[in-house]
Amino acid sequence: MKLRGKTALITGASRGIGYAAAELFLREGAAVAICAASEQSAAVAKESLLKAVPAGRVYAQAADVSQNADCEAFAQNAFKEFGTIDILINNAGITKDTLMLRMKEADFDAVINVNLKGAFLMSKAAVKFMMKGAEGSIVNMSSVVGQTGNAGQVNYAASKAGLIGLTKAMAKEFASRNIRVNAVAPGFVNTDMTNALSEALKAEVLKSIPLKKFAQAADIAKAVLFLACGDAGYITGQILAVNGGLYI
Ligand SMILES: NC(=O)c1ccc[n+]([C@@H]2O[C@H](COP(=O)([O-])OP(=O)(O)OC[C@H]3O[C@@H](n4cnc5c(N)ncnc54)[C@H](O)[C@@H]3O)[C@@H](O)[C@H]2O)c1
Repeated sequence: MKLRGKTALITGASRGIGYAAAELFLREGAAVAICAASEQSAAVAKESLLKAVPAGRVYAQAADVSQNADCEAFAQNAFKEFGTIDILINNAGITKDTLMLRMKEADFDAVINVNLKGAFLMSKAAVKFMMKGAEGSIVNMSSVVGQTGNAGQVNYAASKAGLIGLTKAMAKEFASRNIRVNAVAPGFVNTDMTNALSEALKAEVLKSIPLKKFAQAADIAKAVLFLACGDAGYITGQILAVNGGLYI
């Protein structure tokens, strides 16, 4: 088990990539604290995680990562529950896609606030507790779109490119505390987020993926686990692409 005795906070873990990471982390021996946009989805996810890993330790609550008070409360509650925070996965993310000239200022702000500011706020809240331990690891969920850009996603692409800068700067700031900070940049993954795309668009995207398939959430979870655990003990400030060759 790669995470025995560790405590991990995972944001946006009621479904998709966050949920897959939570399940994998539990199987690897971590105690896992999850948050999601709604109380109900967090509770349902907890129940399902405990069904999958009955011996697991799971804490779940609603927390909006764009709100500082929610981030502080989530980190504090998880620390109270488990006594340590070793790992933070800033996974929560949203899209509000449309071409830039049609994009409302509120849709730009909402995506930046959840995807980018959320990682800043949550990291600030968790690092205080992480510094009590000997080491820590933070993994931010970027995207191939943050590396390549994408028409119809200026807000999302900016947030995900911003996470790359945040990751590199945080890696430099926290290295002296033995806290590593890395990011995963997935390509297209089969989750609710991509289910929202039209079949025609998905078929078009598929043509440009050398491995000729979308990733499963579990594929991304494995990369998150690698960066979070001791196997990546000398890796910090890096962006790990998990994109089927879409961007090389
Ligand atoms: N699915 C993809 O193809 C893909 C590709 C690249 C990157 N990503 C990124 O991976 C992450 C997870 O994506 P997914 O496809 O699993 O998404 P999803 O829509 O399936 O799940 C999103 C999760 O985030 C939570 N969430 C939403 N807003 C929140 C908020 N304000 N505060 C806290 N939690 C909130 C939801 O409750 C849910 O648990 C996101 O950051 C996304 O941008 C996804």
